[in-house]
Amino acid sequence: MYRAKISALGCYVPPRVLTNFDLEKMVDTTNEWILERTGIRERHIADPDMATSDMAVEAARAALAQRGIEASELDAILVCTVTPDMMFPSTACLVQDRIGAKGAWGFDLIAACSSFLYGLTTAAHLVAAGSHRKVLVIGADTMSRIVDYTDRTTCVLFGDGAGAMLVEPSEDDSLGLVDFINEIDGSGGEFLKMPAGGSRLPASHETVEKRLHYVHQEGQQVFKYAVRRMYEVCRDLIERNGLTARDIGLLIPHQANARIIYATAERLGLKPEQVVVNIDRYGNTTSGTIPLATQDAIQSGRLKKGDLVLFAAVGAGFTVGASLWRWAF
Ligand code: UT7
Repeated sequence: MYRAKISALGCYVPPRVLTNFDLEKMVDTTNEWILERTGIRERHIADPDMATSDMAVEAARAALAQRGIEASELDAILVCTVTPDMMFPSTACLVQDRIGAKGAWGFDLIAACSSFLYGLTTAAHLVAAGSHRKVLVIGADTMSRIVDYTDRTTCVLFGDGAGAMLVEPSEDDSLGLVDFINEIDGSGGEFLKMPAGGSRLPASHETVEKRLHYVHQEGQQVFKYAVRRMYEVCRDLIERNGLTARDIGLLIPHQANARIIYATAERLGLKPEQVVVNIDRYGNTTSGTIPLATQDAIQSGRLKKGDLVLFAAVGAGFTVGASLWRWAF
C-alpha cells in the first residue's frame, strides 16, 4: 500500500459576481436576511456560454501548471459534480479530451456537496493500490443552471465554481491521507433534490411547468441534519486517531451555511483561527467549496506543509464525509 498525498491545487470561478443587493431586485429578500442566515455576501455566476466542463478544464490546467506536469501524465480524472454538461458522455470525458489527457480513464461522481471528498477518497485508494500514480480530482458545479431564480429560499444560497486537486503517492510517509469516514443515508433523499430530468420523471412540458428541473430543498431539515452529522463525523475521526481539537491545524468544511460551520467548530472545541470560512464570497458552489476554501487558506498563509487538515461535508442524499490529511505542499 502506498500513502496518497495531495500534491497540487487549481481553482476557477467565473468573473461575473451576483451580490445580495442584486438578488434584492430579483426576489423578495434582503441583504441582511441572507447575510445573517447564511453568511453569504456574493457569489460568482457563469455566463450562458460557460458550462461545468469549461470551469473544470480551467481548474485542471491550473493544478497541472502548479505541479509542472503535462495532462498526458494523468492516469485518471474524476469529475465531481451534480451539474454535468449533459447526462452523457461524462464530463470527465469532455475534460480529458480538452486538456489532452491521452491514455487516462475517468468518470463523474455524484454525491452532491460531499462529492469532492468522495472523489479524494476514491483517488487516494487508486493511488494506495499502486495501480495509479497521478489522479486528478475535479469538483465543478454550475449551480446557477439548476437554481430557480424565482425561489428565494434556494436561489440566494448557491454559486458557480471549480477546483482540482492532484493525488499522488507520497514519498514522505509522514505526509498524506491519515484517515477518512464516508457515509450515505438515503432516508434523507426527499429533503434536497432535483426531482425531474432522470428516469423517474423525464423532461416533459409538465415537469418544466412545475419547475421540477430545479433544486428543491427543505432547508430546516437539511440544516438540522448537517449541523449534527458534520460535528459527529469530525469528532469520530479525531477521536479514533487519538487526536484532540488542539491537534487540528485547519478545519476546511463544505461551505453551505456559515451557521453550520460555526456550530460544528464550536462543538468540536476549535478556535476561529482553526476554521476556514469563505462562503461570504462564493456562496455554496457544491463540489467547488472545499478546493476553493483550501486555495484561500494557502494564499492567506494559513495552510502549510505538515499541517493537519480536516475536510468535512454533508450534502444531499444525505451524504456525509470527513477526511484527515497531513498537508504535503
Ligand atoms: O449544501 C447542501 C446542504 N444544504 C444546506 O446545508 C442548507 C441547509 N439549510 C440552511 O442553510 C437554512 O435552512 C436556510 C439558509 C436554507 C434557511 O434558513 P432558516 O433559518 O432555516 O430559514 P427558514 O427556512 O426557517 O425560513 C425562515 C423565514 C421563513 O419565513 P416565515 O415562514 O417565518 O414567514 C422563510 O419564508 O425566512 C423566510 N425566508 C426568506 N426571507 C428572506 C426564506 N428564504 C428567505 C430569503 N429572504 N431568501
